[in-house]
Amino acid sequence: MTGPESEGSQVRRAVCPGSFDPITNGHLDIIARASSLYDEVYVAVMINQAKKGLFEIEERIELIRQVTAEYGNVRVESFHGLLVDFCKQRDIPAIVKGLRAVSDFDYELQMAQMNNGLSGVETLFIPTNPTYSFLSSSLVKEVATWGGDVSHLVPPQVLAALTERLKRP
Ligand code: PNS
Repeated sequence: MTGPESEGSQVRRAVCPGSFDPITNGHLDIIARASSLYDEVYVAVMINQAKKGLFEIEERIELIRQVTAEYGNVRVESFHGLLVDFCKQRDIPAIVKGLRAVSDFDYELQMAQMNNGLSGVETLFIPTNPTYSFLSSSLVKEVATWGGDVSHLVPPQVLAALTERLKRP
């Protein structure tokens, strides 16, 4: 065998975890940038039994698959339990997160340090594109619920799904 495989190089994997209820342009920006840095990027959608979201987990996964299909190296899966176990099972050494503002930092630092202490997994922070520094799934849902325009904040497939979901009682 010739090439990188014969030299013992490994596939470089990372995970972008979150609730993604639903995925926004801010999430997508981070996933796209991670996909250019790593060979394989997993998007891990957390199953939170205590909190019912607007979209079912399978709907969130389907939307993420649609909007990340163009990258070719992005896989989308759900998980419950610890993120570090998801990483261990798939041989993923790095978690990639977007940082929007200083207000994100305290909690993200705690999680990064806890995850590193639990299993040695590293967390890498990418500064969010300033266009999306105020953006969150919760705000998108709130604005859309009251008829506000979120078309510049989410991919078209997500906008269509939001419009459909919110017109039902
Ligand atoms: O989009 P969110 O809701 O801000 O994502 C939070 C998420 C999923 C990244 C975080 O809650 C998480 O990693 N949960 C998995 C459970 C876990 O591993 N907890 C210990 C973290 S130190």
